[in-house]
Amino acid sequence: MSSLYQAVILDHSKHPRNCGLIDHPTHHGESKNPTCGDSLSLDLLIQDDLISEVYFHGHGCAISQAAASLLSEVIKGKPVETALALGPDDILSLLGVELSPNRLKCALLSLETLKKTLASDSENKV
Ligand code: FES
Repeated sequence: MSSLYQAVILDHSKHPRNCGLIDHPTHHGESKNPTCGDSLSLDLLIQDDLISEVYFHGHGCAISQAAASLLSEVIKGKPVETALALGPDDILSLLGVELSPNRLKCALLSLETLKKTLASDSENKV
């Protein structure tokens, strides 16, 4: 792992961006990493097919927290279709590290949560 990416992961895990809750999200989703029991929740405010607000919260290791923080920065202000098009390679590219299968689950927890959140039905809408 290069020191640059180590620094990025450390920074985002210690100072996660967009960490918290939205009072009245239009979309909400949660996922759990079955290997460790850690979980992540995501709140989105989607207006006119744009993701105007993004907040996540939950517990997890440095990799999962950094991935959630980086992902939140990528999707904030973007069209829903941009978020829908994101895949595992995009997250791994953001993290810039090679991961063991177990750590891969950590890295992709936020992406799984995002997909669930975007699929959450409109009952959550305000
Ligand atoms: Fe639980 Fe990484 S060890 S999310």
